[in-house]
Amino acid sequence: MENRPQWGTRAGFILAAVGSAIGLGNIWRFPATAYENGGGAFFVPYLFALLTAGIPLLILEFTMGHKYRGSAPLSYARMNKKYEWLGWWQVGIAFVISTYYAVIIAWAMSYSVFSLNLKWGEDTGGFLIGEYLQVAAPGEIGGLVPSVLLPLVIVWVVTLGILFKGVKKGVEVANKIFIPALVILFLIIVVRALTLEGAGTGLNAFFKPDWSTIADGKVWVAAYGQIFFSLSIAFAIMITYSSYLPKKADITNNAFITGFSNSGFELLAGIGVFSILGFMAVQQGVGVDEVVAGGVGLAFVVFPQIINEFPAFKELFGFLFFGSLVLAGLSSLISIVETFIAGVQDKFKVSRTKAVAFGGGLSALVSILFATKGGLNFLDVADYFINQFGVALAGLVQVIVVVWFARQLKPLQSHANEISDVKLTGFLGSWWKLSLAVITPIVLGYMMFDLIRTNIA
Ligand code: PFF
Ligand code: NA
Repeated sequence: MENRPQWGTRAGFILAAVGSAIGLGNIWRFPATAYENGGGAFFVPYLFALLTAGIPLLILEFTMGHKYRGSAPLSYARMNKKYEWLGWWQVGIAFVISTYYAVIIAWAMSYSVFSLNLKWGEDTGGFLIGEYLQVAAPGEIGGLVPSVLLPLVIVWVVTLGILFKGVKKGVEVANKIFIPALVILFLIIVVRALTLEGAGTGLNAFFKPDWSTIADGKVWVAAYGQIFFSLSIAFAIMITYSSYLPKKADITNNAFITGFSNSGFELLAGIGVFSILGFMAVQQGVGVDEVVAGGVGLAFVVFPQIINEFPAFKELFGFLFFGSLVLAGLSSLISIVETFIAGVQDKFKVSRTKAVAFGGGLSALVSILFATKGGLNFLDVADYFINQFGVALAGLVQVIVVVWFARQLKPLQSHANEISDVKLTGFLGSWWKLSLAVITPIVLGYMMFDLIRTNIA
């Protein structure tokens, strides 16, 4: 606690928090999720989740980290010795995510190089599975895939190198470079996308509201899931990052900035991705719904196809797109790994160097599992499990423990008010408390109930 590292500037903290939030979730998860859950109508549950869970929890986590000055396990322990386990659980989720998140960044890194000569050829799906990932026939699982291993090593060298340098000289400096660069790259992509033939068709498909979905519980589950994953909430990250804030920090305001920047970027990504999908649909003379994809399929199968058909500067466009995935991914990966490094450091009182070498090294080793011939399957399973159970459940337990068991709402509210310019009083105060004490637990509780019900049935 005595010589806890500190951010150099306010902008440094905000950029790091925004860097953690903006990631693969914005670019390849949000557009398809919104489309599949009602298009324009999805914005209702989405905004509701942002305003009643996303930002309130962000304020809660920022305040906890600032008040208790520790990584998640230490912060929970200082709040009440009984709840240290919750911090470790969240750190555990972060660890699992880091192992596969790194692999996806490695793929994006390869693909940014492949863009330069459109190496994926005409059959982009076949290239991804057969040539690049070398997914073996069932029964032939195992064996390292060198084409994935090399970029994966680079991802880890860069990430751990930044983390070795520390919070201010490493994490802060990296985000100050990555995030502005990402925004510029992405704006170029979106402007180009909007001027493609067919962009309007794509945007119509994206924004056309299907109001019949609004009463569907699944759509609300999707909205909350998206907000949690996208804002890096309930992964112990925001607690860790805010534990490095100086004494005086406008945490409430910072939470609003982080929350709205992340959603703004998400909207931008939706517009960019759907303009491009519209282009593809018009080229092929099919409906947008036939080309929509999310996740791995969107980035590594559909996008390469689209780049093949691009009117001009195919190679450059591909390079910018995959380059922006790499930047967005790295700034998030750094935050995920920092979370468990900080946990290990606080707990075992070891140096940062040792914690990075041990914690980061362990994650790097585990991630190699996904660079094997059947790795893609492990990745799907890990991602599904984490998103369905890890995140929402950890978030639910977090609000119940902090708000109802440890009775922290009042003390955290006064702490936030002491240091923030934007005060949680009057309407803002009631909104914050009502969201955390009532709305979020009810909605998340229902989500868990629904998940268990549908998984058993
Ligand atoms: N918020 C990041 C995104 O939207 O991609 C992803 C993320 C970061 C998820 C950190 C989890 C995490 F712990
Ligand atoms: Na995000």
